[in-house]
Amino acid sequence: MIDLRSDTVTKPTPAMRQAMANAEVGDDVYGEDPTINRLEELGATMLGKEAGLFVPSGTMGNQICILTHTNGRSEEVILEEEAHIYVYEVAGMAVLAGCSVKTLPAPHGQLDPAAVGDAIRADNIHFPRTRLLCLENTHNRAGGTVMSVSRTQALSDVARSAGVAVHLDGARLFNAATALGVSAAELAGPVDSVQFCLSKGLSAPVGSLVVGSKPFIGEARRMRKLLGGGMRQAGVIAAAGIVALTEMVERLVEDHEHARQLGEAIAEMSPFSIDLETVQTNIVAFNVDPAFGTAPEVLDALQRFGVRANPVRPERIRMVTHAEISREDISRAIDALQETVRQGV
Ligand SMILES: Cc1ncc(COP(=O)(O)O)c(C=O)c1O
Repeated sequence: MIDLRSDTVTKPTPAMRQAMANAEVGDDVYGEDPTINRLEELGATMLGKEAGLFVPSGTMGNQICILTHTNGRSEEVILEEEAHIYVYEVAGMAVLAGCSVKTLPAPHGQLDPAAVGDAIRADNIHFPRTRLLCLENTHNRAGGTVMSVSRTQALSDVARSAGVAVHLDGARLFNAATALGVSAAELAGPVDSVQFCLSKGLSAPVGSLVVGSKPFIGEARRMRKLLGGGMRQAGVIAAAGIVALTEMVERLVEDHEHARQLGEAIAEMSPFSIDLETVQTNIVAFNVDPAFGTAPEVLDALQRFGVRANPVRPERIRMVTHAEISREDISRAIDALQETVRQGV
């Protein structure tokens, strides 16, 4: 089966399994797990921040950051309307942090600094206080699109000049850095906090890192405890995260080449339409002509040819390339799509 549902399906590499077996561990709630401490330092250094915090998932990392940036009552968070934090995190912001949400539409997930400026609330007793701007890079639902350093900076300037903090959901930040030819630290430079995942394109089995200033991470550690995310001898999983950051970043370029190859082939298939401009990293999102069938019908047909992918809307399919997908797998996936078009659904 060629599994293009997500880069989260990647399994730990042999080097990760070896590192996990040999990991030195301790009780991390006491700060005594040397492997976790090493991973947190490494992640913070790679992103140019003072400190890091290992968390079980991207969702928990984002929610910890929102809890840490906000103060619990009558505050508002600005987000792009298709942001993962808004669409896929079970309204955590409202449930946990008690925040109101202001969403803004943005083509390709690229928020406009002027629109963000307009969305920041004036000081008025009727309004919530705008406390936080959340960005996403790469943008998942926009199809893996990247946000440049200059746009990140411009957005951050607008927010910070109004006293609004900036959090970056960088679940796939290393994909963005690879595609833009910049370092992850350059992309993280303009923002106050970042969550990035080890368990997606970087193939670790579990975990994300939150990075930011030392005081921010100190408070984030408390919020992790609040959510039940204080783990004990979790160095056994952090060890895989170290391998993810040291061995799995450079190869992301292959995933992007594979996505491009897949996207260009899909552009030639008439029941499908794709905006190739959005194929910038490892995600290929495309629409199915309703006269041909629905996304679930196309996916059922593809599965019979040994290919799996996910529907993201009734008419939209998402395919994600990753470390376990070879060039041959991409050719086979293209063959399966062509066969589906020939046979119908
Ligand atoms: C942009 C983005 N943020 C956050 C997450 C959440 O990560 P997790 O699945 O580890 O909770 C994802 C997962 O797909 C994502 O794509």
